[in-house]
Amino acid sequence: MAAKLTAGARVANVGTGHGAALLLLAQAYPASRFVGYDTHPPSVETARKRAAEAGLADRMRFEVADATGYPADGYDLICYFDALHDLGDPVSAAAHARHALASGGTLMLVEPLAFDDLAANLANNLFAAPRRPRSTWCWRRAHRTAIRGAGSGLR
Ligand SMILES: C[S@@+](CC[C@H](N)C(=O)[O-])C[C@H]1O[C@@H](n2cnc3c(N)ncnc32)[C@H](O)[C@@H]1O
Repeated sequence: MAAKLTAGARVANVGTGHGAALLLLAQAYPASRFVGYDTHPPSVETARKRAAEAGLADRMRFEVADATGYPADGYDLICYFDALHDLGDPVSAAAHARHALASGGTLMLVEPLAFDDLAANLANNLFAAPRRPRSTWCWRRAHRTAIRGAGSGLR
């Protein structure tokens, strides 16, 4: 993937938030083009401002779009950073990503460390610190969607 990104790839980031991870990728790979999608308009606005401030707006953009509804533009890389678990319908999101990838494209998934049982998660500081915001914000948002928060089950 690094070779493709160096040569010039088309990259989408789903659940981009403020675009922090995508900005780093855009800085590291100047020949590539980047788009971040998120359903939260204020986050998309912040991401756009940060891209402009970083001088990257000519080859990266941010759009309000759902994980199952962004344009299937033939991406070389579609990435999720700390986002798949937030989606109400992660299975449909993955199916849409497969459809949106170019032939030979890559889906990259990065999730915070979590274990399969509650006791292990409570003993894990990486999980414990963000537990409250996740249970009050992420889970409630995911639960509002059509299949009632299946993504939250990933945690
Ligand atoms: C935990 S945040 C991660 C943000 C960013 N990737 C980061 O690492 O900082 C998860 C993001 O997923 C977005 N999100 C939730 N459901 C979504 C959906 N159905 N489609 C697109 N984005 C969604 C939220 O608005 C939020 O910005």
